[in-house]
Amino acid sequence: MDDFFVWETRYETGVELIDRQHKKLVSIINDLYSGLHSKYKDKSEAFAKAAKDAVDYVRTHFHDEEEWMFETSYPEIESQKEWHRKFIEVLLKKTKEFDEGRTYSAFEFLKFLKEWLISHIAIEDKKFRFHIQGESRDKN
Ligand SMILES: [Fe+2]
Repeated sequence: MDDFFVWETRYETGVELIDRQHKKLVSIINDLYSGLHSKYKDKSEAFAKAAKDAVDYVRTHFHDEEEWMFETSYPEIESQKEWHRKFIEVLLKKTKEFDEGRTYSAFEFLKFLKEWLISHIAIEDKKFRFHIQGESRDKN
């Protein structure tokens, strides 16, 4: 089966730790997706648990990213932090819906996660590259 989410080199930010975590997020989403066709079948609880683990990883990622932004005096740190906070709120709301047994579509959830990740990586975090390049230019 083809991957649901295919990593592309254009997603690279140039910050090793962050790129590694983004790739890990992509593989978490792919695992959840392939699980939909096998291990999570008729087991929404298992999916809900896996989705929660995915959200935990997103939180860890945001935490590390914010630390990196702080250390490198990233100019857009405040708006980025706010964006992270809002996104976590949305994710928690969605996972709460799973817990409460409300009807949900695991596929819709994954589509949402994938679309968000693409815009996070390809638009927001892509600015990191310019930030680092700007820094190295200053040093030269
Ligand atoms: Fe990121």
